[in-house]
Amino acid sequence: MYGIDLLLEEHKNIYALTEYLNKICCLILEGAKVDVMEFRECIDFVRNYADKHHHEKEEKILFKFMLDKNDSAAEKLIRNGMLVEHDLARYHIDELDKALTQYEKNPTSKAKLDIITHAASYADLLQRHINKENEVCYNYAQRLLSDECKLLINEQIKNFEENSQKDCIQKKYLLWIDKRK
Ligand SMILES: [Fe+2]
Ligand SMILES: [Fe+2]
Repeated sequence: MYGIDLLLEEHKNIYALTEYLNKICCLILEGAKVDVMEFRECIDFVRNYADKHHHEKEEKILFKFMLDKNDSAAEKLIRNGMLVEHDLARYHIDELDKALTQYEKNPTSKAKLDIITHAASYADLLQRHINKENEVCYNYAQRLLSDECKLLINEQIKNFEENSQKDCIQKKYLLWIDKRK
């Protein structure tokens, strides 16, 4: 299914970002300086690619169709699982952003700890989230949705992609993450 195959491909790029975040956190633990600009670029990738480009397609298209089925297992999986985790991911990124601002004003060990805590928590959360979607959620969607729904989802995801292409979103962020793999 085109829509789900595309989401699975995007997971590979988001997973690469989580591995990169873990790598730069480890470098700090080993004595490297905090590279505030690089963390801010990671935040930009998360907000505009992982969240706006990827989570938005899940929330506004795939999950929306699944919730419309009135299936109790899908409802539980999405509302109590996937959507809660998307929000928790946003929380860690907002806190990482605040910790970086704090570190710039006053580079204390506590500010450094907050940077590592929220960057590594985001990475851990997203790795588990991606595994759940790859192994459970998307397979459930394939079983739950009718062929007619799948065609509509594919069409809406294709339109979303075409709009993003006008702003060069895919090109910009794939180029950025490829340099960090
Ligand atoms: Fe998700
Ligand atoms: Fe996802």
